[in-house]
Amino acid sequence: MTKKTYVLVGTGGRAEFFYGAIAGHYKETSELLAFCDVNQTRMNYANRLLEEKYSYRRVNTYQADQFEEMIAAEKPDAVIVTSVDRTHHTYIIRALELGCDVITEKPMTVDEVKCQEILDAVKRTGKNVRVTFNYRYAPHHTKARELIQDGVIGQVHSVHFEWLLNTKHGADYFRRWHRDKRNSGGLLVHKSTHHFDLVNFWIGSQPQEVFAFGDLLFYGRENAEKRGETKFYDRATGNPHAQEDPFALHLDKNEHLKAMYLDAEVEDGYRRDQSVFGDGINIEDTMGVLVRYKNNAILTYSLNAYMPWEGYRIAFNGSKGRIEMNIIEQSYVNSGGDKALEGAIVGKSILVFPMWKTPYEVEVEEGKGGHGGGDPVLLNDIFGTPMPDKFNRAADHIDGARSILTGIAANKAIRTGQPVKVDTLVKF
Ligand SMILES: NC(=O)c1ccc[n+]([C@@H]2O[C@H](COP(=O)([O-])OP(=O)(O)OC[C@H]3O[C@@H](n4cnc5c(N)ncnc54)[C@H](O)[C@@H]3O)[C@@H](O)[C@H]2O)c1
Repeated sequence: MTKKTYVLVGTGGRAEFFYGAIAGHYKETSELLAFCDVNQTRMNYANRLLEEKYSYRRVNTYQADQFEEMIAAEKPDAVIVTSVDRTHHTYIIRALELGCDVITEKPMTVDEVKCQEILDAVKRTGKNVRVTFNYRYAPHHTKARELIQDGVIGQVHSVHFEWLLNTKHGADYFRRWHRDKRNSGGLLVHKSTHHFDLVNFWIGSQPQEVFAFGDLLFYGRENAEKRGETKFYDRATGNPHAQEDPFALHLDKNEHLKAMYLDAEVEDGYRRDQSVFGDGINIEDTMGVLVRYKNNAILTYSLNAYMPWEGYRIAFNGSKGRIEMNIIEQSYVNSGGDKALEGAIVGKSILVFPMWKTPYEVEVEEGKGGHGGGDPVLLNDIFGTPMPDKFNRAADHIDGARSILTGIAANKAIRTGQPVKVDTLVKF
């Protein structure tokens, strides 16, 4: 069998999900040829894991400015993009222009200008972009799509969606590069791309108009000072002030985090353990969004990043009844432990309330693995033998764009105080 060949850009925490799958379960169908990153130490560590954990061979490494050289030398079928969000579009577009398909992590990109450039590049080159929306594949998420598609509650007129990020995983965004909106688009793009993609997928529609409020009300130095905090530090590792802080992450206490970030920071100055109560955070931690969809449905969405538990509550209100879904997710720090526990489910219920009839609970087979059991199914779809899928869960650049446009429009609404028509942002 001819193997499909890959190179990967961005060898941080998420990268192992892909290169581990290629080097492990999917080594008969797929081959990894090279890594590309701005940080050689991180690429060397990824190569060490390839050898020691996956018994694979070391692959060639290229600096970010050698990307084109890498494509010319390695001639991969596809490029996997798992770098910092702000850089995705650069690699997506260059890869397409050099004749490769692309598999990119979410969010596809962070603003409307970069989004348009990607849409244009796909049209120009005729190559494919796949966005890895693992949440679509979680069995309970697919079940919600199935119930709505089967008309169990009739036409969905409104969705009420509350997502909670807790003081462990939610706090992690405020320690890392995500805390700068230029890198991540803020949580309404970086994180909510998953949620807004799910809503598009569930109700089978697209966002039309968006309004939002958002603010930084908990993290950041000013908020901590208002609450009476007097001790501050810039990074946790090795700092006595951070010893008692439950929000601190000590990179030297976790072998994996130390090798991937602490030992690598001499090269690029990137510190993964910044204080969540430090200066320089310009993303929101408290957000409320109102969306009108093209099929007339209305979404009310709330995201808070400092909650005591992690997960969500959602209600779909339809012409024939209501579905309520409650999910509690495992708490985690990105790359701080077992990947299969990232977003794993610890409690869930789906209740259907048919109009005039007795409510009932819908049983869903437990999904094993990260992101509610979505991760392993997604990997099979990409690297294995995809089964015909009546739910069309494989997401392309159009799905990638529609999922970020709600957050990009929400960011604009926060900046301007005005509702934003999504069609004014990009042309498909
Ligand atoms: N789908 C999911 O569930 C999920 C989970 C985690 C992360 N992600 C996504 O994966 C991506 C990476 O996140 P992460 O947590 O691994 O972050 P990370 O900080 O651990 O890794 C980012 C990597 O990108 C590299 N990088 C930075 N600038 C670069 C450039 N200009 N060119 C090439 N490489 C560059 C960094 O050196 C680092 O190795 C993000 O887009 C994130 O949204 C998705």
